[in-house]
Amino acid sequence: MAEVSLRRVAKRYGSFQAVENFDLDIAHEEFVVFVGPSGCGKSTTLRMIAGLEDISDGEIWIGERVVNDLPPRARNISMVFQNYALYPHMTVRQSQGFGLRMARRPKEEIAEKVNRATSLLGLQGLLARRPAALSGGQRQRVAMGRAIVRDPDVFLFDEPLSNLDAKLRGQMRTEIKKLHEKVRTTVIYVTHDQVEAMTLADRIVVMRDGRIEQVGTPYEVFHTPASRFVAGFIGSPPMNLIDARIVGDGQGGLAVAVPGGPALPIDPARFVGVRADTEVTLGLRPESIAPEGMGGPIERPYGFAADIGLVEPLGSEALLILALGDVEVTARVFRPGPRLAPEAGVRFVIDLNDLHLFDDTTGRRLDRRSE
Ligand SMILES: Nc1ncnc2c1ncn2[C@@H]1O[C@H](COP(=O)(O)OP(=O)(O)OP(=O)(O)O)[C@@H](O)[C@H]1O
Ligand SMILES: [Mg+2]
Repeated sequence: MAEVSLRRVAKRYGSFQAVENFDLDIAHEEFVVFVGPSGCGKSTTLRMIAGLEDISDGEIWIGERVVNDLPPRARNISMVFQNYALYPHMTVRQSQGFGLRMARRPKEEIAEKVNRATSLLGLQGLLARRPAALSGGQRQRVAMGRAIVRDPDVFLFDEPLSNLDAKLRGQMRTEIKKLHEKVRTTVIYVTHDQVEAMTLADRIVVMRDGRIEQVGTPYEVFHTPASRFVAGFIGSPPMNLIDARIVGDGQGGLAVAVPGGPALPIDPARFVGVRADTEVTLGLRPESIAPEGMGGPIERPYGFAADIGLVEPLGSEALLILALGDVEVTARVFRPGPRLAPEAGVRFVIDLNDLHLFDDTTGRRLDRRSE
């Protein structure tokens, strides 16, 4: 069993605060992904859990123990880095067993664990090869095998796929997911790729400037982003974020007015604490806007006319750049027909149930949840 808990963990480099007030409980066998822009403190946090970096404040628990003062090798963790270094002179078989040989484990145990890891990862045919004779993806699997044979309580991955090309990345992502289903170890995985985060995680931790911005399931961070930052970070293409204004709708209700464009009625039951004549950020997912008849099911449709300025076909879908009042927004259409092209005065539909509002000043989400 290995839960991992971080209690008010902080890291300072001189006067620079790299990680601040980091509080998180990770369950046994959970797959948690840290995601966030470059420099937000993902690797630093992971390295503190691994014991490769001292912590400036707080406590780190692995299982029943506070590990603050334990060296890395006493923490029973395995770490796979972006630049996994494989010894060039060792065959795959030798490198898989290396850690266990160093720990002077019995020969039979080493053989058994190496066999298990190599069959889990499909390395059987490669055991006699040295790294120079392996592809990028195969090397990556060897590095993971090396981590698995140690039977750790916790796996730590720091951007393990960022050296691979897009196709291989996708394949390895699937491999890692399958591996977790078989091995069921607690995993903490760092990436700045939000697709990787969405597909792999039980829970995603979105970080920004050394702090946690939101912790939630992939569904939660996508559907109820806690802040404008998360809304703009999770989702591809990102959510349209529009500087807008709350106005009266003339019938006692409220609407959110897009500059030079429509005023979209707001469901008063959903948005609490939203007042007329305040500035907000309006968030609209590209998939919540579609030309009439081309979108998915829409719960509360709101129609308007707009000009399609640009079409970006992506095969199974297309992105449309259109003018919503004075602002440009991206709409996403699934299964576009062959003749989708720039055109003036096209009827579009927005799903009013998919509006997101964020406080203009704090950037926090505005709805019942934030009360
Ligand atoms: N040894 C160090 N001394 C001073 N500052 C450091 C040190 N190590 C990291 N930092 C700073 O701490 C911050 C967090 O770094 P970290 O490596 O954790 O970022 P990251 O989220 O992993 O980014 P990336 O996605 O680029 O890998 C950065 O601003 C970095 O410059
Ligand atoms: Mg990093």
